Amino acid sequence: MLTHTDAKARRLADLPPVQGDSLIALIALCDADPRPEKIDVGVGVFRDAAGNTPILKVMKEAEQRLLNTQVTKAYLGSAGDKRFAELLRPILLGEHAADSRIAGLQTPGGCGALRLGFELIATANRQARVFLGTPSWPNHAPIISAVGLETVEYPYYERGQGAVRFEDMIAALRTGEAGDVALLHGCCHNPTGADLSEEQWREVRNAVVDRGLIPLIDIAYQGFGRGLEEDAFGVRLMLSACDEVIIAQSCDKNFSCYRDRVGSMWVKTGSVEATATAMGHVNQRSREMWSMPPDHGAACAHIILEDEELRGRWLVELDAMRDRINSVRERLAAADPRLTFIGRQFGMFSMLPLSREQVLKLRSDHAIYMAESGRFNVVGMSDGQIDRFTAAVVEALGA
Ligand SMILES: Cc1ncc(COP(=O)(O)O)c(C=O)c1O
Repeated sequence: MLTHTDAKARRLADLPPVQGDSLIALIALCDADPRPEKIDVGVGVFRDAAGNTPILKVMKEAEQRLLNTQVTKAYLGSAGDKRFAELLRPILLGEHAADSRIAGLQTPGGCGALRLGFELIATANRQARVFLGTPSWPNHAPIISAVGLETVEYPYYERGQGAVRFEDMIAALRTGEAGDVALLHGCCHNPTGADLSEEQWREVRNAVVDRGLIPLIDIAYQGFGRGLEEDAFGVRLMLSACDEVIIAQSCDKNFSCYRDRVGSMWVKTGSVEATATAMGHVNQRSREMWSMPPDHGAACAHIILEDEELRGRWLVELDAMRDRINSVRERLAAADPRLTFIGRQFGMFSMLPLSREQVLKLRSDHAIYMAESGRFNVVGMSDGQIDRFTAAVVEALGA
């Protein structure tokens, strides 16, 4: 990223090259591989037993209804579809839904919500540091640095054990100072799949409260782990304990509408007045960045959540996605004692204890495409590909 001190880059032609997103590069590599048996476990989208990422049936129905009933495409304003946010509110906030110190608005996906959340932090306090457990979703650090905040990294995951380095996490958070931010994955940790237990969430809460940190919870996979309610445990615990909380939420996975960019951002402060002021800044930042979020996907989610029958059908389809994730996890975990950790994790991702060389060998010898870190999408493969995948991985792990 360029900084003001980058005196050389005065003209467009002087721009230094950027290092492209490695996951995007991986998609291109896999696309270019002519072997029909190739397995793409790099890209982060849900796939069904046949290896497809279908549009949810309930989404198709909502789209049809939208087509039939929408009478205008006039501007909605920087908060987007307000009813969409209202309908989402109890799903995300649970028992905190009635708390009028919490306000939210529609954003372009979880990514837009994260950007907006960090913009708000930076607007309030340029000195705030963001505590980020690594590895994390590769877009976290760039978003934080794009708003000019400092990132403090700490080790989150022990690859050999497939477990959270919890003591390191707590020790790092306890070095935070009032106003610093703890970026936390609400559920289905990306890239590791290693979530905090309820007990661990409570300890994190204690550290956050003791140090006066602001939790910013990124929840992009609600419903993909244990269930819609269970997956919001951390969000709600933090809301119970802290006066100031930010939540970046995505519907792109649980409504399977990735490219439609559906999400929301939520702010809690200690008073209704302070929240209203904060939301004034949020709307201002939103207006500067994208003016208003795209309507289509949120309009469809709105239709689904408003209609009892469609909502019920969405929950059934969401359960089916979660069931597939968990059943593939079980199959992988049962394949080899060194893979049992996969069965204890949640969401679409996990990280294999493979070296970069082993990952590249899987690519060349078996046409299996995963990130060089060993992160893979457990539902990236069809049911028919699971045995070949596990055999190749076990071979790569060695005797
Ligand atoms: C942890 C995490 N947060 C946020 C996002 C962004 O989601 P969206 O596609 O809705 O912007 C993702 C997407 O992969 C993610 O994995």
